[in-house]
Amino acid sequence: MSEKAEIILEGKKYELPVITGTENEKAIDINNLRQETGYVTLDSGFKNTGATTSKITFLDGEEGILRYRGYPIEQLAERSNFLEVAYLLINGELPTKNELDAFSEKIKMHTLIHEDMKRFYEAYPTYAHPMGVVASITCSLSTFYPGSLNPNRSRDKVDLTITRLLAKFPTIAAWAYKNSVGHPVQYPKNSLGYVDNFLSMMFSLPSQDYEVDPVVTSALDKLLILHADHEQNCSTSTVRIVGSSQANLYGSIAAGCIALWGPLHGGANQAVIEMLDLIKQDGGDVSKWVAKAKDKNDPFRLMGFGHRVYKNFDPRAKIIKKACDDVLNKLGIHDPVLDIAKQLEEAALTDEYFVERKLYPNVDFYSGIIYRAIGIPVDMFTVMFALGRLPGWIAQWREMVDNKEPIGRPRQIYTGATTRDYVNIAER
Ligand code: SDX
Repeated sequence: MSEKAEIILEGKKYELPVITGTENEKAIDINNLRQETGYVTLDSGFKNTGATTSKITFLDGEEGILRYRGYPIEQLAERSNFLEVAYLLINGELPTKNELDAFSEKIKMHTLIHEDMKRFYEAYPTYAHPMGVVASITCSLSTFYPGSLNPNRSRDKVDLTITRLLAKFPTIAAWAYKNSVGHPVQYPKNSLGYVDNFLSMMFSLPSQDYEVDPVVTSALDKLLILHADHEQNCSTSTVRIVGSSQANLYGSIAAGCIALWGPLHGGANQAVIEMLDLIKQDGGDVSKWVAKAKDKNDPFRLMGFGHRVYKNFDPRAKIIKKACDDVLNKLGIHDPVLDIAKQLEEAALTDEYFVERKLYPNVDFYSGIIYRAIGIPVDMFTVMFALGRLPGWIAQWREMVDNKEPIGRPRQIYTGATTRDYVNIAER
């Protein structure tokens, strides 16, 4: 017999269906609540509200579990590669070798962006934050591909748009970096793999080609896998709600970039490094900064700590922390902020304030140290997060479209002025 929830409102009892997911998560289905009771629910920040059902990513915040289409993140990070994970997230199954080769070849055919788009880059000031450039150029793809605007989105047109996004996003990102350092853009080299092609467009110069370093390729590929999806986070929810109005995929992804940019979300990886550098310049006394993070009168927060869902270690942070040591050792780099990060983690994890609030390092806490070690500048860190999250955003958008989900339009409880008559200005 299916479970029910009972609520009593104004003396009347209502029964609401309970739904149970494949991992035994339970929800009270309130799809008909307002129609049956006249009530809505209120949940600021959607901390207790499920927006949808999804088959893409499962995470258990208490147990520190993260799986993409059922595969544990630890196994994917160790044994898969980013393009294969992108295929898995978008299509639901791991590809055969032929399927992966075809997927990769299709992407290689679309890595160029229209030559006219170079003029957009030339118009930005060199101090433009790359995230603002990437979001704008991504949205501008919809102006170069008007066929993508079709709200009825025929399957093959959607597949072509997905291929173009996966193929062009690394080019768009790398060119934003080149613009920020005043270097000429470097064109994609389709003889290289997805990650190496991105690094080549980032670091090649007219006088010198980027030299592939397997240590760097492997570290970046792993970071992209770890960022690839994370169920209904702020930016993914943004992509879904924008797409729910039948806006095109380029615009939905651009909106996701903007949501990710916030320092409480994907912008945290940049904020973490800036925080660690600040602590280093301030003499490295982590206890002083832990105290500041606890002080309610001090706006300072320990960036890279805490998570809306993980009330245990973020499994991605564990993997990245280990990769940090590996990459820095292999590259022969000693970054003093890594020591500060570890001291900060240790100090926080033994401090009642953090323990009580279950604040652990999240995905953003160590990732910036690796990005910096492989030469990526701080203001490109959130762009790197977006590069990783792109297949997840695409998969979630397509699931929302395929499920023919209604336009997202939450309700509210009005608390403003009740009705009153207009008063002419002369009488106010
Ligand atoms: C990402 O959702 C996702 O899945 C996101 C993400 C993804 O993959 O998409 O995982 C990526 O965004 C990771 C989070 C990156 N952000 C940061 O590292 C910024 C620092 N963290 C926080 O601002 C905060 O922890 C959030 C925004 C991540 C979560 O905020 P919540 O869930 O709204 O929790 P909250 O702000 O209500 O905090 C609960 C308590 C509060 O104290 P009290 O009011 O109970 O006394 O914990 C405190 C907060 O003040 N707190 C912190 C803190 N984070 C929360 N105190 C100090 N430092 C922090 N970092």
